[in-house]
Amino acid sequence: MAVNLIVGNWKMNNDFVAAIHLTQQIGILARQADVSGVSLVVAPPTCDLRSVSSVIEADRLAIKIGAQHAYWEDGGAFTGETSIPMVKRLGCTFLIVGHSERRELFAMDDEAVAKTAMSALRHDVTPIVCVGESEEVRENGGHVEFVTAQVQAAVGGLTPAQRRDVVVAYEPIWAIGTGKVASVEQVAEMVAVIRSAWPDDAGDLTVLYGGSVKPENAAELAGTPGVDGFLVGGASLNAEQFVQIAVTAAKCYR
Ligand code: PGA
Repeated sequence: MAVNLIVGNWKMNNDFVAAIHLTQQIGILARQADVSGVSLVVAPPTCDLRSVSSVIEADRLAIKIGAQHAYWEDGGAFTGETSIPMVKRLGCTFLIVGHSERRELFAMDDEAVAKTAMSALRHDVTPIVCVGESEEVRENGGHVEFVTAQVQAAVGGLTPAQRRDVVVAYEPIWAIGTGKVASVEQVAEMVAVIRSAWPDDAGDLTVLYGGSVKPENAAELAGTPGVDGFLVGGASLNAEQFVQIAVTAAKCYR
């Protein structure tokens, strides 16, 4: 079954003190609001995970935790990396895999994305596999082919049973952090592309949209056919905006 997720990708923002504060604010606002039917997930920097999971537990907040990145090997000589079992021990049930910033700035290729997704599944952590084209690819008319190839490379090596536990986020690179949100038509087209690239029946696949999601555009985007939730960057750093996006989406999905 597809699930409705609102995921906050904090990127490299908030030290552990700020992370505790933001988590508490989100949790308290979400408790007072009607977000029934959607799950809230925060993805803080790795060094904040312990603090965030402690505050969620202590304050009994209805927030799940994701890691922004982890390495596919379980342990060993990989200086600077963090394994999936390690982030799982800190309470992560989700892992963002292959965000365009990792792909572009840290040379994460399709093979690394596939290995990371596979490792997450092996540890019962839900991978949120990010796909999306650059402005240049779209201008040259290659976006459908590009995203189809990304999806197939990421999940083609998984079993159908494993694929049932994968979440996909469509994040056009030109819409990330730019304020340039994709139109409903563009999002609907690309979400359909992702579903038709899926090796199995994609009826139950959860597909998120990400790229300049704000409270003002959340209703329109949540109402786009095939969109089950959001991966939110900038607006997830503000508790009011993040919870407002969740409230708006929850209303659409009820
Ligand atoms: P944005 O980021 O909401 O700031 O555009 C989205 C993302 O990178 O996941």
